[in-house]
Amino acid sequence: MPGKNRGQQNFEKTLGRFRDYGQDRVFRFWDRLDEQQRQRLLDQATAVDLATLERTHAAATGRTGSRPPKLEAVPIVRLPSHGGDAAAAERAFERGSQGLAEGRVAALVVAGGQATRLGFDGPKGAYPVGPISERTLFEQQAQKIRGLRRRSGHPLPWYIMTSAATDVATRALFADNDSFGLPSEDVTFFQQGMVQSLDFEGRMMLERPDRIFENPNGHGGSLTALLSSGALDDIERRGVDTVFYYQVDNPLIRIADPTYLGFHLEAEAEMSCKVIRKCDPMEKVGVVARADGKIGVIEYSEIDDEHRFATDENGELEFWAGNAAIHIFSTAFIRRVAEHADEFLPYHASAKRIPTIDDEGRPVQPSEPNGRKLERFVFDALGAARPVCLIEGDRSLEYSPIKNAEGTDSPTSARRDLIAAYRSWLDTAGIELPKGGVAIEIDHSRVDGPDEARQLGIRRCAEAGETIRVQAREDA
Ligand code: UTP
Repeated sequence: MPGKNRGQQNFEKTLGRFRDYGQDRVFRFWDRLDEQQRQRLLDQATAVDLATLERTHAAATGRTGSRPPKLEAVPIVRLPSHGGDAAAAERAFERGSQGLAEGRVAALVVAGGQATRLGFDGPKGAYPVGPISERTLFEQQAQKIRGLRRRSGHPLPWYIMTSAATDVATRALFADNDSFGLPSEDVTFFQQGMVQSLDFEGRMMLERPDRIFENPNGHGGSLTALLSSGALDDIERRGVDTVFYYQVDNPLIRIADPTYLGFHLEAEAEMSCKVIRKCDPMEKVGVVARADGKIGVIEYSEIDDEHRFATDENGELEFWAGNAAIHIFSTAFIRRVAEHADEFLPYHASAKRIPTIDDEGRPVQPSEPNGRKLERFVFDALGAARPVCLIEGDRSLEYSPIKNAEGTDSPTSARRDLIAAYRSWLDTAGIELPKGGVAIEIDHSRVDGPDEARQLGIRRCAEAGETIRVQAREDA
């Protein structure tokens, strides 16, 4: 093309390709962009694999709204307080503690989500959750990991998955706080991939005149990113064969819970899943069940009323096992799933409110869903695991996620549940609390449960200094 510079040629080539797929609206502000902005948009557009995106979107939307699966309940290892075998739980505790002491375990937290419902300006892990100190979720988790290192006498390497939306701020938070007291060589960050969101006509959307909107590719992206980033090689180089997975937004998480680890190791499971009892049939949590013959998590929107309200002969919900998003994986299984991600981790499409721009280039914050995000779900890997181990967890002590700005699963409910859990530890340990409403905060690096509280040998909180802090609070 004589007379045309290389930039213009590249643009025309890319525009032609986008036109073939009905995606050329992405360039509708081209004439208004300066050189730098054009280059940015062109670079982003060139990286899009249009054929794969079209195929993925068609498959994901084809599945949405398909007939509800036929469900069967699956056997789950119950808590001793719910009829489970107490001796088996004790044996599992020993086995898990041994696994930790042998350095076989790493922790993986997924922290790449955009926290849209919470509406927090920053990565969710930076949310100030401490009822008294306002320590962040990350700081609280670092305390738990320090406690585990102390008890097991072994580093518990911590892998933190970020995304383009959270990476810079997350690394800065750790750098500014000396990795919250952990050796920096035992804290590894890796980034998940991004994928383009699409409007209801299947077209890409613009976030700015020079930028296509992309979302992190879902928590299932953790398994593929572990492989592609080299983090999985690093995990295996350390002699670790077991990965404890959790989500950043649950302040009650019992990281690397030895009993859970023990059951997983004893079962020689490739993947495990901890479940909690649903508080009512309408609770918005996925349930673990066999769906059309295959173990998996069925999202609350995919269950029909017949299964949702089904009860057994004792009048208990038949599908009571809510997915707490706490998993354990063998490293070999992560590798297998990640290498065959298209088979085991299909993309799902869900309607979301996606911030975009109008035809004048002005920002639009939609009040209703205006497009679909494509995401991989980590629990889809359950379908590929042989065998799977399913364990009941104690909701009141282990699960209270921060999802929404208020109401259920909010910072208020999570802090309330955190204080109630601390209160239960102290009660069990026979440590006296002041009368009346109090906020409680415990340093997890020193105490992580009633047994350690008891071992401190203290009788009253007033003697516990910074380890157990108590503050009179009318609202607590
Ligand atoms: P959620 O699905 O609750 O998403 O993620 P979120 O980003 O926290 O909140 P919303 O949906 O935008 O309101 C559950 C966990 O999975 C992580 C989140 O960081 C959270 O720990 N996650 C989610 C990722 O790491 N990457 C993703 O692409 C999605």
